Amino acid sequence: MSSFTDKGKIWYNGIFVDWKDAKVHVLSHGLHYGSGVFEGIRCYSTDNGSFIFRLKEHVDRLYSSASAYRMEIPYTKEEIGEAIKETVRENRLDACYIRPLAFFGYHHLGLDPTGCPVDCVIAAWHWNAYLGKEAAEGGIRCAFSQWRRIDPATLPVTIKAAGHYLNSILASLDAKGRGFDEAILLDTKGYVAEGPGENIFAVKDGTIYTPEAESSILPGITRASIIELARDIGYKVVEKQMTKEELLSADEAFFTGTAAEMAPIREIDDVLIGEGKKGKVTRVLQKKFFDTLNAREKKYMKWLELV
Ligand SMILES: Cc1ncc(COP(=O)(O)O)c(C=O)c1O
Repeated sequence: MSSFTDKGKIWYNGIFVDWKDAKVHVLSHGLHYGSGVFEGIRCYSTDNGSFIFRLKEHVDRLYSSASAYRMEIPYTKEEIGEAIKETVRENRLDACYIRPLAFFGYHHLGLDPTGCPVDCVIAAWHWNAYLGKEAAEGGIRCAFSQWRRIDPATLPVTIKAAGHYLNSILASLDAKGRGFDEAILLDTKGYVAEGPGENIFAVKDGTIYTPEAESSILPGITRASIIELARDIGYKVVEKQMTKEELLSADEAFFTGTAAEMAPIREIDDVLIGEGKKGKVTRVLQKKFFDTLNAREKKYMKWLELV
């Protein structure tokens, strides 16, 4: 995994500071309890300029995440959206990954964060597809994790809060420690949920399946985009509970997510999925998706925001 270069500017509570100066107090609430909310957003360099994919949806989700923890972001959605674009411009980036974060800051360490300031940060940097460039073509090897995905009865699973990601970290460590590329988490009932930072899809007899939004998943913005693209192409997409066996006996499987983009899954726990390579439906969808991201699909220009 590539590390930071320490160059560039970070938007920090409304002003740009040097990368190395974007610091927090060690007694910040968010650092101790994971009481922060964040987004992962991508900007793509295309023949027609640099575009941010589904900026509005990402900003909306950031605010939903904040409200689940009664966090009041001291900026409007419009201001944060503009600051995100400004961060890309300020750093002279074309294609990049963008990370807005809002967290309870330095004031006290009681669990109730009321009274802590809400600090806001936006950083942007070059970050290639999270699972590696080869993953998009050759696919990845996954393992069912021994860790179950966080449950809606325990945490608001549909939002992106920093502390929730301890569950993802454990699953990643588990799968990678056993030599796999990525984990797949089941929910507490034993149904397939998702990856540590990706939604999952399976294809069987030409129909596309994905765990329903009401299950223990983060309903991804990429997931929603892929479902819309697939339906527009003419595929049947079914959102439903998925058993391990259904996933293992699928003809094709793939992950979606902002960081991972779209990655075929070729193996799970050493069982080949379909022919153990990128399948036909995955190929069609991936092309449509990448064409969309690269501003080659007029119909979906509505999802791209010029920087
Ligand atoms: C747990 C989890 N599931 C799924 C996703 C995919 O969501 P999106 O497509 O909005 O990036 C992410 C990434 O944000 C995630 O962290």
